[in-house]
This record gives sequence, structure tokens and C-alpha cells, in this order.
Amino acid sequence: MDQLIQIAYLLAASSFILGLKFLSSPETAPRGMLLAQGGMLVAVIATLLNYGIVSYGLILSGIVIGAAIGTLMATKVQMTDMPQMVALLNGFGGLSSALVGGAEYLRAQPNLTPQAVITIALTVLIGMATLTGSLIAFAKLQALMKSAPLLFRFQHGLNFLLFLIALGLFAVLTVAPGTSFAFWALAALAAILGFLIVIPIGGGDMPVVISLLNSYSGLAAAASGFVLSNTVLIISGSLVGSAGIILSQLMCKAMNRSLANVLFGGFGHAETAAQTVAGDSAEKAPPPAQPEVQSATPEAAAEIFKKAKSVIIVPGYGMAVAQAQHTVKSLATLLQAQGTTVSYAIHPVAGRMPGHMNVLLAEADVPYDQLIDMDDINEDFENTDVSLVIGANDVVNPAADTDPESPIYGMPILHVEGSKTVMVLKRSMKPGFAGIENPLFFKPNTLMIFGDAKGTVERMVAALA
Ligand code: TAP
Repeated sequence: MDQLIQIAYLLAASSFILGLKFLSSPETAPRGMLLAQGGMLVAVIATLLNYGIVSYGLILSGIVIGAAIGTLMATKVQMTDMPQMVALLNGFGGLSSALVGGAEYLRAQPNLTPQAVITIALTVLIGMATLTGSLIAFAKLQALMKSAPLLFRFQHGLNFLLFLIALGLFAVLTVAPGTSFAFWALAALAAILGFLIVIPIGGGDMPVVISLLNSYSGLAAAASGFVLSNTVLIISGSLVGSAGIILSQLMCKAMNRSLANVLFGGFGHAETAAQTVAGDSAEKAPPPAQPEVQSATPEAAAEIFKKAKSVIIVPGYGMAVAQAQHTVKSLATLLQAQGTTVSYAIHPVAGRMPGHMNVLLAEADVPYDQLIDMDDINEDFENTDVSLVIGANDVVNPAADTDPESPIYGMPILHVEGSKTVMVLKRSMKPGFAGIENPLFFKPNTLMIFGDAKGTVERMVAALA
């Protein structure tokens, strides 16, 4: 039986690796998902055949309760709340690994070897830090706490001190594995460290934090695989761990920031500083005159479309909120029918999760070859008649290039301002995720078209049709 289980694990691990490979292209991604799901099913069944299983009844109740909660969460969650859900799921992953570590620590007493206790302690350390870090990320994304970085004096010093204490506890456990106090103190310390590591990271950097925590939950699972001597857990955990790190690096690159800068920089701090300066001088200087914006109706915008030879659609978070993707596709189809070339400019952090815009547009059957990445499309804006910005804000904010005081300074953006006409579809003049004003809205070639994006695009479609 043991050999059969190992063969099943090998099959499962191979399908995870192949599944990941297929995920690298939108066309093959559904196949990759199916393959990985099949692999997971094989891994679960093989594990259930293990002779060491104590109670099938307990496992079954866990499966039923977990599946019910998971199904409810997945069906109820709005697409726009997906990042929070991912954060929460990462946290659950960390918690389950920590629980495995804790249970194994209690079970293996008093015959714990130093090698065993090191892997158990690592599992609990990474698992608990992932849990509390993910809970903070969830609270920031869900607006249960301020998304701005929470900074205080000697923060890095405190983190370093706690890290040293954790190392000390590790050393104690290696010498005397039965020292329960050191074990539980390490678990508590890890929980505090996870909390302290995420609070100084501002909302703007949450994409990176989520993928990093995802990677941690994978590492915790891999460590628990060593604890249980379970090869498929080690392989799948390592795959999640390395994929999460690669994604974090890609997100950092998209935001022109280094990982160290995200973890220790306190994104959004510049904004706080700028606000403080503004606050200090507010009493002395009169407020600057608010520049005017030009607004238009969807019907007036449709008249401009009738003459446009090229249109670039720039989707953002507001398109997800309005669920406007199908209507946007209809608009694009009408424009193409009149001979206008249409493409979609995809910013890597548009929306609230990696690939958010790709998922929405794929749902509306927009052909993949019309989705162009930021680096490839940026030089096309200069030769484009209309840039249609649908619920995007931060990713088209020129302040990222021009204002060193801006918290998004240095983040690469889509240069829509270069096109002949820029149409911005949003409901108000409110800022986007980074909480800052967008000078694009005040440019002479920008037309603001206020209203819910779906309703606005529907009116454009009606006027064009
Ligand atoms: P945002 O800068 O957040 O702007 C979205 C805009 O959509 C808002 O200004 C809002 O203006 C508008 N909007 C909301 N609902 C709308 C509706 N029903 N109809 C029309 N407009 C609507 O979005 P973005 O440009 O996509 O930038 C993404 C931001 O999120 C970046 O700062 C990024 O760092 C951050 N972030 C990204 C991720 C990932 S992984 N993508 C994860 C977390 C955070 P009104 O309220 O005036 O309508």
C-alpha cells in the first residue's frame, strides 16, 4: 500500500508542476487548473489510504464543514473583494500548518529529536506569522483598519530584537526539545512578528504583500510536509512558496520597487508627510484655486468615437465594480465594425488582484491578442485618437512620473495623456486606491464622463448603434 501511495503522490506532484506550466498562458490556463485539481484529488485520496489514519469520522466531518464554509464564501464573495478572500485563505493555510506543527510537538513527546523539533518549530514560526500577517492584510483591504502604513520609532529595531529572541528560543529547543515553554513562546512571538511585519506596509503595496504571504503559506505547508514526512506536501508547498516569491518580484517590478523597499519602506508615508506639510501651511496660505475639469455626456463622447480611427481601452478597478466588461466588449465590437482599431491596455496592478483585468475581459470573451501589456502599448498612445479610461485612476496618474512627493512616485503608468482625446469614466472626482488626486483629469485633452461605468458605456453603445 505504501508504494501505491508514493506512486499516487508522484502523479499528483507531476500534475501540479504541469498545471503551473499551463497556467502561464490564458489559453492553456483552464487545462492547468483542471490538471492541478485532479492532482490534488489523487493526493487527498492517497493520503486517506494511509494506515496511520486514526478516525475517518473526524476527517469526514472536517471535509463536510470545510467544504460548506468554502462553498459559501466562494459563491458569496464579490469579485472586487477577492483579494481579501485570498488574504484570509493564506492565513488559514498558515494556521493549519501551525496546528499540524503544534499537534506533532505534543504527540512526539517525550521522544522528540533535535532534528524533528527544528522542522516543527519552523512550521509553527512561519505558519503563525502567516496567520497574523494575513489577518492584518485582510483588515486593511476590507477597510477594517486604515490602509496607510502604521509606523513608529524603533520599529525595525523591535522587529530585529524579536527575531533574535526567536533565534534564542530555537537554540533552546534544539538543545532541550522538551522545553514546552520555549515552544509556545516561539508560537506567540511568531504571531507578534507577523503582525508587526505587515502593519507598516501601506495599502498600495498590498498586492505584493498578498503574494508574499501566499508564498509564506506555501513554505509553512512544505515545512509541515517535513514534519509529517509527506512528500507531496513538501513538493506542493515548495511550488506555492516559489511561485509566490516569483509573483511578488513581478509585482514589485510592475510598481518599480524592490522587495526590501516594500517590506521596510512604509509606502504611503510620503503622502502622510505631504499632508502634514499642507496642514502646517494651510493656516497661512489660501487654498489653491481648483482647476476646472471638462465633462461630457456619453452621447457627445459617441460623436468623437464615430470619427476615431484608433481607440485604446484602459480598464481599472471601477470596471470591476460596475461589472461593465460585457458592455465594454459590445462597444469595442461596434467600434471595430465601423473600422476603428481597438486594443486594451493592461496595467499589471490595475484592479485589486494580479490578472484582475485579464480575468474580467476573458469572461466577456475579449480575444487575448487584443490585451496588450503596459510596456508594449505605452508608445502607442501618442498615435491614438481616443484613450477610454474605464474606472482606472492610479494606473494612469501622471503624478507617478512628475511629483516626487507623491506616494506612487516611480510607479510605471499607462501614458494615456499622450493620445488625442482621453475619456475618463468614473462616478465622481474621488481618488483611487492610493488616495491621491489625479492631474490627468484636469488636462485640456481630457473629458470626464461622470456616472457608473456600465450605464455610461451602455449609453455610448446606444448612441453609436
Ligand atoms: P483605482 O486607482 O483604485 O481607481 C478606481 C477608480 O474607479 C476610482 O477612482 C473610482 O472613482 C472608479 N470607480 C469605482 N466604481 C466605479 C463605477 N461603478 N463606475 C465607474 N467608476 C468607478 O484603480 P486602478 O487604476 O485600477 O489602480 C489599482 C490600484 O489598486 C493601484 O493603486 C494598485 O496598487 C492597487 N492595488 C492593486 C492590487 C492588484 S494586485 N491589482 C491589489 C491591491 C491594491 P469614483 O469613486 O469617482 O467612481
